[in-house]
Amino acid sequence: MKGLILSGGKGTRLRPLTHTQAKQLVPVANKPILFYGIEALVESGIKDIGIVVGETKAEIREAVGNGSRWGARIAYIEQSAPLGLAHAVKISEGYLKKDPFVMYLGDNIITGGVLPFVERFVRERPNSQILLAHVPNPSEFGVAELSKGRVVRLEEKPKKPKSDLALVGVYLFDSTIFEAVNAIKPSKRNELEITDAIQYLIRKKFNVQSHIIDGWWKDTGKLEDILEANRLVLDSKQLCIEGSVDKNSRVEFKVVVSKGASIVNSSIRGPAVIGENVRIVNSYIGPFTSIDRDVYLENVELEHSIVLQHSKIKNIRKRISDSLIGKNVVIEPSNGRPESYQFMVGDNSSFKIH
Ligand code: TTP
Repeated sequence: MKGLILSGGKGTRLRPLTHTQAKQLVPVANKPILFYGIEALVESGIKDIGIVVGETKAEIREAVGNGSRWGARIAYIEQSAPLGLAHAVKISEGYLKKDPFVMYLGDNIITGGVLPFVERFVRERPNSQILLAHVPNPSEFGVAELSKGRVVRLEEKPKKPKSDLALVGVYLFDSTIFEAVNAIKPSKRNELEITDAIQYLIRKKFNVQSHIIDGWWKDTGKLEDILEANRLVLDSKQLCIEGSVDKNSRVEFKVVVSKGASIVNSSIRGPAVIGENVRIVNSYIGPFTSIDRDVYLENVELEHSIVLQHSKIKNIRKRISDSLIGKNVVIEPSNGRPESYQFMVGDNSSFKIH
């Protein structure tokens, strides 16, 4: 079995972050989202992984390398434009050849990994196995309609969904999928849709199995979903303190304080991860917060948020929550009169201020 991770795309829903970085490299609990996918594939015994890359290819290569750190062999497959998930499969035929493979969307995280699904696929040898999850908002996903346990129809983001079963971003295929991706035509949004390709397999009476997952799964395409994934991953951490915590500080519950970090006169209530060389002074860090490396916080209250590397936040009177703060961001009060807000903010940013 091989792996195929899709890490191209546009990432429009995560602008402005995706103006300057690949969304698959945004960290969840201080680890790039993409690494969760690589680890899930490696844990299921897959060593050969192709990563489909687009505009952000240089950055992804730089972060991932050749895969030796996971004991895997990673190859890069360039997609000229984000023309759809089925298009990504189509251009990967030369790499995948006749091997069955797991296709994993590079912005998805799934608990419990993919080993049980790979084992079932190898044992039962269907042409395709799709994973489904019950969701409250099916019209935002590809939705499956089942009849007596069999998949009869798939629809991409339907206005009137026929079920609450969303397609999870992990799919298993054998090489019959190439017949499908070569036969289908682009959709209204001009993409080759993987749902259309799977629908083709169903229509041609190939064996498409489904599997309803019981663990959690997150498609991190939007801000709320990244924060939610961060919350779920942090919850599984244990207290681990490698950095320094002075005697006036309190660190309690599932908190990771990484090497070189220093906590001074502050209170940290987990689950939370504090990255390398972070300095936190006179501050409160509340649950479900990830602070990436080299961040400086002083006189700040922060919770349920992610702060990326090298940012600095100082002397903020109100608590900051439910926020994703990019790299090298500076937030501090302006001095002097009149009291005013002063911004230098990139395109597509959003603020909520009292
Ligand atoms: P999506 O989240 O569906 O698409 P997107 O990345 O373009 O995001 P947005 O809707 O916010 O503009 O993509 C799921 C994953 O598949 C993601 O990791 C990007 C990747 N992908 C490709 O590699 N090639 C493609 O042609 C598409 C559409 C997505």
